[in-house]
Amino acid sequence: MNKQEYILPDHKAEGRRSNPAGRSVFELKSEQKNLGNGKTYFIRTYGCQANVRDGETLSGMLEEMGFQPAEGYEDADLTIFNTCAVRHAAEEHVLGEIGSLRPFKEAHPDKIFALCGCMAQEEGIVKDLIRKYPQVDLVFGTHNIARFPDLLEEAMNGKRTIEVTSNEGSVIENLPVHRSHPWKGFVNIMYGCNKFCTYCIVPYTRGRERSRLESYIIEETRQLKERGGKEVTLLGQNVNAYGKDLGMEDGFTHLLRKVSETGIDRIRFYSSHPRDYSVTTIDAMRDCPNIMPALHLPVQSGCDEILKRMNRGYTAEHFRKLFDDMKARIPDLTFTTDLIVGFPGETDEQFQETLDLVDYCHFDSAFTFVYSPREGTPAAAMEDNVPLSVKKERLQILNERIGKYARENNEAAVGKTLKVLCDGPSKKNENVLCGYSEENRLVNFTGNGIQAGEICDVKITEARSFSLYGEAL
Ligand code: SAM
Ligand code: SF4
Ligand code: F3S
Repeated sequence: MNKQEYILPDHKAEGRRSNPAGRSVFELKSEQKNLGNGKTYFIRTYGCQANVRDGETLSGMLEEMGFQPAEGYEDADLTIFNTCAVRHAAEEHVLGEIGSLRPFKEAHPDKIFALCGCMAQEEGIVKDLIRKYPQVDLVFGTHNIARFPDLLEEAMNGKRTIEVTSNEGSVIENLPVHRSHPWKGFVNIMYGCNKFCTYCIVPYTRGRERSRLESYIIEETRQLKERGGKEVTLLGQNVNAYGKDLGMEDGFTHLLRKVSETGIDRIRFYSSHPRDYSVTTIDAMRDCPNIMPALHLPVQSGCDEILKRMNRGYTAEHFRKLFDDMKARIPDLTFTTDLIVGFPGETDEQFQETLDLVDYCHFDSAFTFVYSPREGTPAAAMEDNVPLSVKKERLQILNERIGKYARENNEAAVGKTLKVLCDGPSKKNENVLCGYSEENRLVNFTGNGIQAGEICDVKITEARSFSLYGEAL
């Protein structure tokens, strides 16, 4: 097998802008439409919703090429690892899994193994893969997805194919999609991130912020609705920055109101950044009944010094004010966040400031993480002097505090009637239904004749830390 040249990611590639007028549209070549006839594929996706949505794009392309889905890599002619690089543990997991596949690949040399996603944008990882993992036939970066059919064709012709470009290029529209959920769907509104938080690898793996044109976003939402979709989640690393690269002011709020006009039952968005927050967004949430009253606003730390060294661009006080303002406008808003413990140099007092912020905001829930150094990021060059045992201890204390408020907030819902989008029987007990309320609370409930995909009223009878119990009315 030949090696194709690997183009190094350009870690200094700030400030690029795509040209909306020059937007390209994806089209599968006619000779590729039968490439997968009689063949099967399996995609293993790690990481965030951006990756889930990329996986759906790859499935869409593969099905247009004639491939059929398989249950696992054993039955698949093509297996794709759609990877995440946000923390070291995520990478270790993928590399372990790929490593263990070597004997399988040797016994089945015709099966193709591919790796894509954020790990594929990392220079060190790709160099390692080329040298140490001969079982991987195809590697392509996050900016190379639209080229996937061509790259796959090369790999199917027996050529080891590596294509990772550092330049994100312009947004490509009309990418195929095979949605993994019948009534809920992700719609990308923008790609990339310009924030460069010092701990985070995402700006290097996903490139600069590029917004999709409103017309494509609305069309994709309409299509989702027409095929029975009830809920759309608008995706971006920092959705509040939507449209800035297109010269729009307050583009996200404008977009939200337009998506609301499609009449889809539920609109959510993920994720926001406190720096770009606009009060108009909260007003749109209050005014439009189909924009759900749930906000995920990552804060990361409650200490100004740590926030500064993280390059977050706000203070804890500013965040408290945002929180107060939002709660004043929408009292029932559920408010969730992301928090990191053990950032380099974090002292006990600084960690205490994070706990103080949690005590102030009483978050409904939070994703909490132990800081993980990422090669090439500014924080990785800072002295990581917090012992792992201390980081773990802080994580446990933080999780207990988050759990306490989550439970209290859930208890306040007992006796209320919530509108729940039914996802079908619960995984733990098939006699119980489950779904999410408008406020994004997980609700397990009993009821007769309720179909999955239906929105129903559920009277809440019991609360646990991260779920509610009730009866459909
Ligand atoms: N763009 C989103 C934002 O800023 O809100 C989230 C992106 S990131 C994929 C999700 C979360 O992972 C971040 O909010 C942060 O808490 C966490 N994270 C990112 N880099 C990390 C690191 N190096 N170590 C630990 N957690 C990290
Ligand atoms: Fe990472 Fe910060 Fe961008 Fe979120 S805003 S993706 S944490 S750099
Ligand atoms: Fe992971 Fe990339 Fe998402 S690093 S969290 S898959 S943007």
